[in-house]
Amino acid sequence: MRTKYIAGNRKMNMDRAGAVDLAKALVSELKGLDGSFMIAPPFVYLDAVASVIKGSNIRLGAQNAASTENGAHTGEVSVAMLKDIGVQSVILGHSERRDAQNESDKLINEKILAVLNGGLEVVLCIGEQYSQRIAGATEEVCGKQVRGCLKGLTPEQMKNVVIAYEPVWAIGTGKTATPEEANAVHKFVRGVLAEMFGNETAENTKILYGGSMNDGNAEALLAQPDIDGGLIGGASLKADKFSAICRFSVK
Ligand code: PGA
Repeated sequence: MRTKYIAGNRKMNMDRAGAVDLAKALVSELKGLDGSFMIAPPFVYLDAVASVIKGSNIRLGAQNAASTENGAHTGEVSVAMLKDIGVQSVILGHSERRDAQNESDKLINEKILAVLNGGLEVVLCIGEQYSQRIAGATEEVCGKQVRGCLKGLTPEQMKNVVIAYEPVWAIGTGKTATPEEANAVHKFVRGVLAEMFGNETAENTKILYGGSMNDGNAEALLAQPDIDGGLIGGASLKADKFSAICRFSVK
């Protein structure tokens, strides 16, 4: 039986004081809730946020990681460094990085292996562009991303992988897939996982929805059988909105 997971992707937002204050507010709002929660602040505020959420029920996430080990890689941040400051989970393959940084499935696959080898959790983002959806290519695109990014993983390694289906046209736009539309893609992705890793892994892997999920639509999305949580961008920047979504996940 899969339990729900709510993760906040703060992207490149806030300053140090804001990041710390928001984390403090969340620690108190979520105190005592028996659920799984994660927040991913920008790299430079990870350390500060780590001290605030230590000992709470909130996991610390990073928004990226290098595929390589420590060495001559200017501007990169390694898995070892992330572990060193208490990071437990890493978001990889976000569409903003696929688009703006040209990240390929192959590079994302290398990063996934680096993060898993370091013993951390991966939140792998996949999703189609609007033009691909209207062309009827959603399953083809998502299937290719799942197969490419998870290539060579074992069912054992999949225990540390969470997938986030984020239709690109829904990210930051206020448009969401309907609960039924999203669930259909989640079901399809679960089928791909079954082909790759077997039924048990497919049934146990959490598949989150992301793309304008907020406190107004989360309840309906989370009620779908194949939607195991949310990856929240905009609404994760407000303690009341993010904690409201978290509460729906433990109902
Ligand atoms: P959004 O972002 O909730 O602001 O649409 C989600 C994401 O990009 O992870």
